[in-house]
Amino acid sequence: MNISVIGAGYVGLVSAAALAGKGHDVVVIDTDEGRVRTVNGKKSPIFEDGLEEAVSDGIESNRLKATGDYDEILATDITLICVGTPSNPDGSMDLSCIVESSKSIGRVLRAKKGRHTVVVRSTVVPGTTRGVVIPALEQHSGRKAHVDFGVAMNPEFLQEGIALRCYFNPDRIVIGDEDGATGDMVQQLYEGISAPVIRTDITTAEMVKFVSNAFLATKLSFINEIGNICRRLGIDVYDVVKGVGLDYRIGRSFLRAGIGFGGSCLPKDLKGLVHSSRELGYRAQLLESVLEVNQNQVVNMLAMVCEKLVDLDGKTVCVLGLAFKPDVDDIRNAPALEAIRLLLEKGALVKAYDPLAMPNARSVLSPEVQYARTAEEAVADCDCVLVLTEWDEFRNERLYQGKVVFDGRRVMEPARARMFCDFQGISW
Ligand code: UDX
Ligand code: UDX
Repeated sequence: MNISVIGAGYVGLVSAAALAGKGHDVVVIDTDEGRVRTVNGKKSPIFEDGLEEAVSDGIESNRLKATGDYDEILATDITLICVGTPSNPDGSMDLSCIVESSKSIGRVLRAKKGRHTVVVRSTVVPGTTRGVVIPALEQHSGRKAHVDFGVAMNPEFLQEGIALRCYFNPDRIVIGDEDGATGDMVQQLYEGISAPVIRTDITTAEMVKFVSNAFLATKLSFINEIGNICRRLGIDVYDVVKGVGLDYRIGRSFLRAGIGFGGSCLPKDLKGLVHSSRELGYRAQLLESVLEVNQNQVVNMLAMVCEKLVDLDGKTVCVLGLAFKPDVDDIRNAPALEAIRLLLEKGALVKAYDPLAMPNARSVLSPEVQYARTAEEAVADCDCVLVLTEWDEFRNERLYQGKVVFDGRRVMEPARARMFCDFQGISW
């Protein structure tokens, strides 16, 4: 198939490279000229396991190319919208990139001969494809959706760090459409991938994505809250999960208690859902609490640090880990950002280290933050160490000998850690 993908971000580039690898001809369209040049230069603008090789293979085999020119859509059968949908300051979803890309696709479709299919892959609040994307496409193309062109919603469930693996081994494929034939065409993109296919209408497909992320976030805040209770009872929540998680109705995944969830999706999708339900006249109390519990994990850790060091003013605090999770350089909504902001506010000197995310962190963090070249250098001469991302290299006992350590990611077994350092786990 000839496929155009709008957006060379995590979702767009992973989908494009994966589809090119399966033998499709794919053009990725991005408004960022630098990204276009990077992709055409066989490089990946983002750090993601296996992505650079997949991009390079695609470019070399002429199955993948990047451009800034929307007219390239004309030569394709199907367009996947994969632009970002960040949060507005009030928590609502910023749909401006969705609107702009839909308008641009619409303008091109005016000249398109034959049927075209447009697929929304970005996470959008339920109702967006029908209420925002379709009107923009119709207005700018002068054509009718579901008659002159097909529209589908096909949410992505990619986890950063293992995104290509997730693409080829999904738990399920969800396709929402209104006419059957459009959904069939989208389903063809997944030929050869073995997973249950769930066909729904467009708005239900949008909701499936939101509910998946809301549930994952709820599991995390649930276990963090239980951890906070366990800690006060002198119980290790990780032992509790061993006893609970074997219940097949509950499971063990996403029950690693810690400093809380971050990333480009969970926090923003949850805020978006809370905001839209409020607009619908319903207060999503549980989901609001999930966000609150998550934010409080960082605040709680800071309170523990303040109690230990008495006064943070002038103290040196080492922060190990800036990325929102290991094996990525992504710092979007990373708990470390808020922790560092609070530490600086209390007058602490912050020395940070992350094996991958320091260049990204430098561009958003206060210039007061000092960066170390190694974990060893970061922990040297500090008053305490906070572990905020579970990179494998932080599971090294030697780093913490004799130190005051606050483990936000369970990089060490508490009982053992207490033998060689002054150790506290955040929720255990
Ligand atoms: C994706 C999804 O789009 C989002 O809805 C989901 O919830 C998380 O994952 P992501 O791939 O992380 O977002 O976005 P990002 O890495 O910001 O990439 C978006 C790309 O789209 C950027 O390369 C940007 O330059 C491009 N873009 C944005 C356009 O080409 N056109 C636009 O109008 C806006
Ligand atoms: C998430 C969803 O998992 C994915 O399906 C969706 O498409 C995009 O959003 P991602 O943002 O890559 O993926 O991160 P994920 O692996 O889900 O982790 C989210 C956050 O939860 C991270 O900050 C991680 O450290 C934290 N987490 C995860 C925990 O604190 N404990 C756990 O047990 C699992």
